[in-house]
Amino acid sequence: MTQRIPEETIEQVRNQADIVDVIGNYVQLKKQGRNYIGLCPFHGEKTPSFSVSPEKQIFHCFGCGKGGNVFSFLMEHDHLSFVESVKKAADLAHVDVTLPENVAEAEGSAPRVTSEAQKMIELNQLAAKLYHYLLMETEEGYKALQYLKERGMTEASMTEFQIGFAPNHHATVSSFLEKRGADLDLAVEAGLLTEREDGSIVDRFRSRIMFPITDDRGQLVGFSGRLIDQENGPKYLNTPETPLFNKRRLLYHFSEGRTDIRRREEVLLLEGFMDVISASDAGLANGIASMGTSLTEEHIGLVRRIANRAVISYDGDRAGIEAAYKAGLLLEEKSRMEIFVLALPGGKDPDEFIKEYGAERFLEVYLHERMTWTAYKLFYLRKQRNLQNYSERLQYMDEALTEIGKLSQAVERELYLKQLADEFEISIPALKEQLQQKIVEQKSMPNRAPSEEDFLLDLAPPPDDFYGGLVGTQPVRQTLQAYHASEYLLMKAMIGSEEAFSAIHQLLDGLNFQHDEFQALYTHLMAYYLDGNAADPNRFMDYLTDPTLKNLISELVMLETPEEATTEEYLDYINSLKKQILLDRIKQKEAEASEKDRLGDHDAAKQALAEFISLRQKLAKGDYEL
Ligand code: CTP
Ligand code: MN
Repeated sequence: MTQRIPEETIEQVRNQADIVDVIGNYVQLKKQGRNYIGLCPFHGEKTPSFSVSPEKQIFHCFGCGKGGNVFSFLMEHDHLSFVESVKKAADLAHVDVTLPENVAEAEGSAPRVTSEAQKMIELNQLAAKLYHYLLMETEEGYKALQYLKERGMTEASMTEFQIGFAPNHHATVSSFLEKRGADLDLAVEAGLLTEREDGSIVDRFRSRIMFPITDDRGQLVGFSGRLIDQENGPKYLNTPETPLFNKRRLLYHFSEGRTDIRRREEVLLLEGFMDVISASDAGLANGIASMGTSLTEEHIGLVRRIANRAVISYDGDRAGIEAAYKAGLLLEEKSRMEIFVLALPGGKDPDEFIKEYGAERFLEVYLHERMTWTAYKLFYLRKQRNLQNYSERLQYMDEALTEIGKLSQAVERELYLKQLADEFEISIPALKEQLQQKIVEQKSMPNRAPSEEDFLLDLAPPPDDFYGGLVGTQPVRQTLQAYHASEYLLMKAMIGSEEAFSAIHQLLDGLNFQHDEFQALYTHLMAYYLDGNAADPNRFMDYLTDPTLKNLISELVMLETPEEATTEEYLDYINSLKKQILLDRIKQKEAEASEKDRLGDHDAAKQALAEFISLRQKLAKGDYEL
């Protein structure tokens, strides 16, 4: 039996789940004036235009136009149904309510379909449980368990990370799923099983230690399996690319590490699963790793929203040094995070380092011996050159000065200049002179990369002044035409109070809004009030199903406008709507006149021209009645 969530419970969650708290789990928010701002999770951006209002309990992105309340945020971000979003909001904000176990959708909303994706996730969950059980509790898993223990993994970690074991047999998972009546074709699609040429369906993972992989929403989307002793096949085998399992987007331990990443405002970038687990054991739960691919733009998009700093700790070997350099460059280009690199001695990876020198030593390196990104780049560039050779030495110094020239703080520049000066026994004034020259060159480059200031100009803060401050859905601040501004202001007033709605409804007297979405919103608003609901933009949003209308409401609500307007002001706004309609007609008549003239229909042309003139006269008199 399914139940519905009582209206009072929804109300209680709405009132008690603070939107800043909830969204703070996903986006790094900073207080700015009355609102909080951050990087929008719904589109890629470098400068924050995503605002959250604690007073209004509404969010809105002035970049992409998305907006809503706490429920619509969760629905949109986590792809939840309304009812699920209520549960999740209660959960995240620790609102103490009892929610029925099986809840039905509220009337009117689309029924929830258990999609294929959802079923594939469930199959993965079943398999993960089986693999974990086989590792921890069975004879078959004993060897793997011993191997992991020898490598220093605790049973607690195995449980926390749901590590498992896939025995060397072709039908462990397939027969398990078959017995449960699962859809085996779907399990093939999910990458758990594979179909042989003869059509038989067998296990994909065999003789492997299994690492379950979740996506950024914590859904179990696949596995990576490590061969236990080097037999045949690659060391790590992943779930094949499926709509759910996309390596460009997946980061191991991202969803689980999110809280710690947010708390520290810092993400620890690692190369391997074992590194993530060892680091977590050592007290750093903010570690994540990509799935054997280099870091992608999509990965950066995920982390930069919740962290201000990235600490790269890759293998200390040649490949690791290259990979760290590449990752750092991409981070530098695609985010504004501060970047650090840990240089581990002797070509070790973090997991090996921790085993050899202990967790405390690793923490010490992490906290106190991290290299700044500039220091790392200098180290890297230096490695590329033979410094015994004079010409290469000069090249290195040139590259080093280019990097130092990028630093915005004089103190920082001074620091690296001093290092360079000491190392090559060159005077600081000489280096400074060359640096100065470089800075001038860089500035005069025609196609220089956009500077921070360039971005700031584009920042669209919630507007604080009148017409000119109204912001459209484009990222760039723009001034709206007067009539468009009037539609905004009228609609905002009507959403904010029922009296304003009645007054404006009367004054409009059947006149339509010029923009379809305003007209649609107006119609819904009328129905909302007729249903006996009190004015409340936040609740009104849940009354609507069309997300574009929700976006419009959040935009209206976020606009800072005079609190209350008088009837006269409403009339002014309405007049400006009428004026626009008149202007449109004038344009239309003018076009008609010349069109008829072109077709040789001179009578019709004359007629249109006469109407054009009379409408122009009306306009001149300020008579906008239609
Ligand atoms: N990897 C992969 N496929 C491989 C090898 C590696 O996908 N054939 C990925 C895995 O995500 C692995 C990471 O690259 O975690 C780092 O590889 P490596 O350093 O070789 O593995 P470790 O994590 O160090 O594993 P171990 O310590 O068990 O050798
Ligand atoms: Mn390793």
